[in-house]
Amino acid sequence: MHSDTVKLKIFRKDHGEKSPGRHDEFEVPVTEGMSVLDAVNYVVENIDSTISVRWNCKAAHCGSCAAEINNYPRLMCKTRIDDIGAEITVNPMGAFPHVKDLVTDLSGNFEIDRNIPEFKPKKGIELPWNIKEQDVTRAQEFRKCIECFLCMDVCHVIRNHSSKYIGPRHIIKAAALDMHPLDTVDRSVSLMNDKGLSLCNVTKCCQEVCPEHIKITDNAIIPEKERAIDKMYDPALMLFDKLKAIGKSGSR
Ligand code: SF4
Ligand code: F3S
Ligand code: FES
Repeated sequence: MHSDTVKLKIFRKDHGEKSPGRHDEFEVPVTEGMSVLDAVNYVVENIDSTISVRWNCKAAHCGSCAAEINNYPRLMCKTRIDDIGAEITVNPMGAFPHVKDLVTDLSGNFEIDRNIPEFKPKKGIELPWNIKEQDVTRAQEFRKCIECFLCMDVCHVIRNHSSKYIGPRHIIKAAALDMHPLDTVDRSVSLMNDKGLSLCNVTKCCQEVCPEHIKITDNAIIPEKERAIDKMYDPALMLFDKLKAIGKSGSR
């Protein structure tokens, strides 16, 4: 059962506006199965057409309608009014530069993505490639990502050190490539040393908000951290480096 109307507070701020912004309040008639996105669109279509909001599929597939609903990062189209309550506040994702009202600038994510070293297969492999089912399944989980960036929005490391950590969405991209059995590049050490993975203290908030239920921390972040530690502190490599250093000093 639901009440007949819902009080919807929508964040308003123009592009480049200096003020901290405000919330405009609307009374929206509730219909069966109505989502938060439906309610916002009701306001845009019937009350105030100047509100900026981004959406495409209305089916939790495109990731465009990501926002903070009553302070929790969610997809607006996947969040039913019935599950939230009679008063709903919708804010844009706070981890990204603001554009207008509920719209943020996500272009920085595509720049980060471009800088992740691409897949480089072993040379001389005969086609077709034979890959074990379990290796396919691991990478497939990460490919479910719809690039909503809710995991980035909730991450306290991004909120506090956005320029130092590339963030969970991009770690799963790198992990999917690192876990490919035919790939020859290692991305883990650079993730730890240059891309801020060492700042992640595995709070798991990212995997809690992921609408695709990707186990970001368990299946990508922790394995990438372990892989990097193994590489950085491999006893055989450390011994080799030590012997090399001794050899150099002895030949002086
Ligand atoms: Fe969204 Fe999940 Fe992809 Fe993060 S990993 S961008 S939360 S779908
Ligand atoms: Fe951030 Fe997820 Fe790590 S929320 S701190 S990336 S476990
Ligand atoms: Fe596509 Fe919500 S509109 S995910």
